[in-house]
Amino acid sequence: MIPFLPTVDATLNAASALLLAAGFFFIRRRNVPAHRACMLAAFATSVLFLFCYLTYHYFHGVTRFPGHGAVRSFYLALLGSHTVLAVVIVPLVLTTLYRAWRRRFDLHRHIARWTLPIWLYVSVTGVVVYWMLYHLKTS
Ligand code: HEM
Repeated sequence: MIPFLPTVDATLNAASALLLAAGFFFIRRRNVPAHRACMLAAFATSVLFLFCYLTYHYFHGVTRFPGHGAVRSFYLALLGSHTVLAVVIVPLVLTTLYRAWRRRFDLHRHIARWTLPIWLYVSVTGVVVYWMLYHLKTS
């Protein structure tokens, strides 16, 4: 099971990015049920990702990036920004959902304009970090 988990993680990240984009598309067209469904699915996907990610790292530990020079600096900057924002996004997502649940859609919209782009950045950079770590030819 363990060797497949990074691929599962990247797939879950890609799925949540697509669901977030679809959720935004739907709310711009005033389709609230479809927006709600996509955002809740993106949330479920991200929770599942977190579970798989923690399981993998519990058993496997850290994987070092094999590259050097500029590509390594780029990788570390990407990983750093991804990690910091992955922590920042947790209270933002919970507050955004809470405000929707309480039907405070004015406040929901206000915070969601931060939540959505940051969450998208975290999901997309998660896929890029995975690709660089496991598939980029570094020599
Ligand atoms: C964390 C998950 C969610 C995110 C990131 C999110 C994101 C957004 C964004 C960015 C907007 C503003 C769109 C615009 O600028 O026109 C918005 C509006 C809205 N969202 Fe969500 N949403 C989420 C969950 C939900 C849920 C679960 C519902 C439940 C019904 C919901 C209902 C709405 C409604 C009704 C609006 C329109 C508010 C208005 O125009 O005053 N959202 N959402």
